[in-house]
Amino acid sequence: MALKFDTRYPSIDDLRAKAQDKIPKFAFEYLDGGCNEDVNLHRNTSELRDVQLKPNYLRPYQSSSLKTKLFGIEYDAPFGIAPVGLQGLMWPNAPEILAKAAHKHNIPFVLSTVTTTSIERASELTEGKSWFQLYHPTENKLRDDIINRAAAAECPVLVILCDVPTFGFRPRDIRNGLAMPPKMSIQNILQVLGKPHWALQTLKNGQPNFETLKPYMPKGLDLKQLGKFMDQTFSGRLNEEKIKPIRDMWKGKLVLKGVASEYDTEEAIRLGLDGIIVSNHGGRQLDAGESTIKPLYKIAEKYGDKIEVMMDSGIRSGPDVARAMASGAKFTFMGRSFMYGVSALANRGGDHTISLLKTELQQVMDQLCCHTTSDFPYHLVK
Ligand SMILES: Cc1cc2nc3c(=O)[nH]c(=O)nc-3n(C[C@H](O)[C@H](O)[C@H](O)COP(=O)(O)O)c2cc1C
Repeated sequence: MALKFDTRYPSIDDLRAKAQDKIPKFAFEYLDGGCNEDVNLHRNTSELRDVQLKPNYLRPYQSSSLKTKLFGIEYDAPFGIAPVGLQGLMWPNAPEILAKAAHKHNIPFVLSTVTTTSIERASELTEGKSWFQLYHPTENKLRDDIINRAAAAECPVLVILCDVPTFGFRPRDIRNGLAMPPKMSIQNILQVLGKPHWALQTLKNGQPNFETLKPYMPKGLDLKQLGKFMDQTFSGRLNEEKIKPIRDMWKGKLVLKGVASEYDTEEAIRLGLDGIIVSNHGGRQLDAGESTIKPLYKIAEKYGDKIEVMMDSGIRSGPDVARAMASGAKFTFMGRSFMYGVSALANRGGDHTISLLKTELQQVMDQLCCHTTSDFPYHLVK
């Protein structure tokens, strides 16, 4: 097995540990935490890992391919980079680093509305291949303007969110006074001083901004005003009334992210969406919710031929990707895994993490004698 990554970090756990070492506590805790007591955060991975796969060793087998078709596009692996907000807070230029790595490896990069690079820049770095995730604006004019920008940037897929009707209750972020730009309390300043490499890089690259939203933000907002601007500009609660005009406007593929029930899947089908991401936001919204692997299996079995069913939340390895796909996901996404990679290894982090996951997944396929990524369900132990 040729290992095309830095062998000092052969697992996402290694990258997580290195990231914790390199970035200030308030930034790490924002990335790493779930919500409330972090029950769902841990359940996502532990219940996913209860899924078992069965090999067929004597099956005639030459080789396998990670290539996976989604929405008519052939990707080099069945996983993509999930939208993550405030990425530049964890590491300067994190979204640019990840967009470039995704483009190099031909996997999807999904840009969040509230991250620190713009729709146009992400599109330029990926030659029009990056997807865009829209937080729902309160004003129709702003919604239309952002959607038109995503269309002009040739984003093939627009992702809308149903799992943020409220802000998640995250005790660590509350304790840290998390804000954008970071609030420089004595406590946070001490944390920054303890991470000189992060501090130097952040100083060199300048304060991260919400680049996609910059044209709409009044200049010189202080922290309080910024929070108010965000509250007034976006209303997270999605409904039919909000989805319909987007479906009418958006000519590309439209995906609903945050689905965790059969009810919402049926609504997505009825409203003409092309795909759903079964997701609980990485356990950041409803601590009492199910792990995503549970509804995934039922949803994929019942609706998998009516809508593209994808999945995220809790995936931390190649075997985890295989488990999700065996349980019915056509494609998978990861948020934290890639951000641990970039926070740990800076410019090399995106490439490293993708290469590591590809190597692990290839090993699983060779071990199972699984030829294509669509064959994973045959290997599921039921
Ligand atoms: C720090 C952080 C910020 C996130 N910000 C967004 C966001 O702006 N938009 C969005 O759709 N999802 C966001 N998510 C959720 C991810 O897109 C994805 O659903 C989640 O990370 C998957 O779980 P995983 O981290 O266990 O892979 C965020 C997740 C994290 C960890």
